Amino acid sequence: MRRKVIIANWKMNYDFHETTYFIRNFLRIVFEKKINHKKEIIIAPSFPFLHISNQILQGTTLNIAAQNIHQKNKGSYTGEISAYMLKSIGIQKVILGHSERREFFLEKNNILLEKIKIALKYGLNIIFCVGESDLERSNNKQFKIVQNQLTETVFHCTSDEIKSFYIAYEPIWAIGTGKTATSEQAQTMHKFIRSLFLEKYGKNISNEISILYGGSINDINAKNLFYQKDIDGGLVGNSSLNLEKFLKIIQS
Ligand code: PGA
Repeated sequence: MRRKVIIANWKMNYDFHETTYFIRNFLRIVFEKKINHKKEIIIAPSFPFLHISNQILQGTTLNIAAQNIHQKNKGSYTGEISAYMLKSIGIQKVILGHSERREFFLEKNNILLEKIKIALKYGLNIIFCVGESDLERSNNKQFKIVQNQLTETVFHCTSDEIKSFYIAYEPIWAIGTGKTATSEQAQTMHKFIRSLFLEKYGKNISNEISILYGGSINDINAKNLFYQKDIDGGLVGNSSLNLEKFLKIIQS
């Protein structure tokens, strides 16, 4: 069964107090008010707060994801964090290939493939992001770009490994800009991505893989986006930092 999923990508925003306050409040509201969301919910706080966040969520159906890992498991890489370390504190998921990592930290597809391999080695689920820039879309290159991003990374994995993935389509021009893709633009790309999975891995996997949309999702546009046939939820940045908005999004 294809899962409906909402992921809060908090990026480099909340400190310790804001992180724990949000998660505790969120839990209290969701469970006390018995909010019916029927979706898998994943929160991605910053590294220093993964452990405490995971502890707060123990015994609930909510999950935690890291926002990145290094491509090696150990060694002289000052300042880096590995899948090996995340695993030791019970983290089960990681976001890879986010366009901010690609742009500001120069993560190319070959590095992302190494990150995928090490994440899989440590049994992490991967939320893998793809998406085109404004210029690429205006040159009608969006399909080619997304296909290439998948071919050089995720499509190196076996059918068995693919079961550990969520795919997030995040057009770069829509991230943090307030300019969302229309439901039609997003659906067209999601359908295309699903067709690539069909071609590469067959019907079962293409039907089952969750493909999320990301890029200026808010409490107003979420419903229409999630209503689309091939959109299985969202990767939410800015709007996930606002408890009220996030609660509306998970109910959309
Ligand atoms: P946004 O970010 O919702 O603020 O556009 C989405 C993301 O970068 O994952």
